[in-house]
Amino acid sequence: MERLPGFRDFFPEPLPNAESWSADLRNHIFDAWRSAAHRYGFREYDGPPLEPLDLFTLKSGDEIVGQLFNFTDKGERAVAMRPEMTPTLARMIAASERTYKKPIKWFSIPQLFRYEKQQKGRLREHFQLNADIIGEADIAAEAELISLLIDSLRALGLTSEDFVIRLSSRNAWHSFFTDRCKDESKAPDFYQAVDKLEREQPDVTAQKLALLGIAIEDVNQFIAAGAPTAELQSVLDNLAARGLSDFVRVDYGVIRGLAYYTGIVFEAFDKKGEFRAIAGGGRYNNLVKLISGGKVDLPALGFGMGDVVLAELLKARGLVPKFHANLHAYVLIEDESFRSDSLRLVQQLRDAGRAIEFSITATKSDRQFKRAIELSAKFVVQLQKGADGTLAAKLKNLKSREEKIVALAEVSSHLESTI
Ligand code: HAM
Repeated sequence: MERLPGFRDFFPEPLPNAESWSADLRNHIFDAWRSAAHRYGFREYDGPPLEPLDLFTLKSGDEIVGQLFNFTDKGERAVAMRPEMTPTLARMIAASERTYKKPIKWFSIPQLFRYEKQQKGRLREHFQLNADIIGEADIAAEAELISLLIDSLRALGLTSEDFVIRLSSRNAWHSFFTDRCKDESKAPDFYQAVDKLEREQPDVTAQKLALLGIAIEDVNQFIAAGAPTAELQSVLDNLAARGLSDFVRVDYGVIRGLAYYTGIVFEAFDKKGEFRAIAGGGRYNNLVKLISGGKVDLPALGFGMGDVVLAELLKARGLVPKFHANLHAYVLIEDESFRSDSLRLVQQLRDAGRAIEFSITATKSDRQFKRAIELSAKFVVQLQKGADGTLAAKLKNLKSREEKIVALAEVSSHLESTI
């Protein structure tokens, strides 16, 4: 039985083949995301993977709605697998914001589902770090959020040589649009056309823009001029004070596809331009109000960073560490008469927090030793009896090949500094 196209199996390393996805790499990425978010004071939240269909048709925009995994459930409800986290977050905030002091800084690592055309960097499910700040209208929040985006990537070993955040402004584009087209209802079509500019044939975009009475040359000129608005300059200054200038540049080529953005928007890309966007986000000051039916009105901003492009980028830049079971020791039982005492030792070491493996059935000692090496255990531990009949443990460091005999009570502390 095959898995569905665009979905992944995650295996522990070593992987069955070069196309397999690594559960270890996924954890490595999640750990880096979580630790960066914690360093910025963000708290973790989560929501349901299945939501009422309406939550996403309200304001996410036509593109994402066209990619929904939706169906009618057994209770005749129209439901959808979440394609993004932001509407769920807006719903949760609308229901609970009184409990939390502002600004609210929350993050989540949801699995998301989009029925996309499969291509490099785009699958039908992905995990996404979402970090959002709610209840802060000041532009300083943008700088704090973008700083977290940068540090989430730096935590994985990426530098300003590897990626850049392209900063833009829906406000700047909105003024551009209203100067040329008086029909406000067409603004989403305009944003979509600009969003696709780099991925679509120029004549296709030119045609779309012409329908709005806008020339593609005009759009290209605006992007090329790239003069920062006062808001963008303030974000740049804030990031400069943090020493993070190298990671950002103003680029109006970014506008974002989603319909709910209202202010500064941004996307992170690899510097060589080999991959799709690593992350994207921006300010969305009207979404909480819309989703709460006008009851709660809070400014908000956030970003989403996917695991698919990021994993590809880390592989391409040689930034994927070697993963193994991280075992402190393999307890080798050469003589089965030592099994009970060895089991006691295994349990004591595990109780003390050490990662221990051993052969659960009687096995030739050379095979056990080989297994210890395959598992990259730091030590092999073997019980032995001294001349006076007392039990002791022989520890062999598999790297240095050094051996020493230690009392049973001291095995754990000898393994302590090994990983
Ligand atoms: P998005 O730009 O749709 O934004 O997605 C953010 C990131 O998720 C993308 O840059 C990409 O890395 C990854 N991604 C999206 N779709 C796929 C896919 N089909 N396969 C693999 N990776 C994908 C949002 O979702 C916004 N809700 C982010 C946000 C949070 N805005 C404010 N707060």
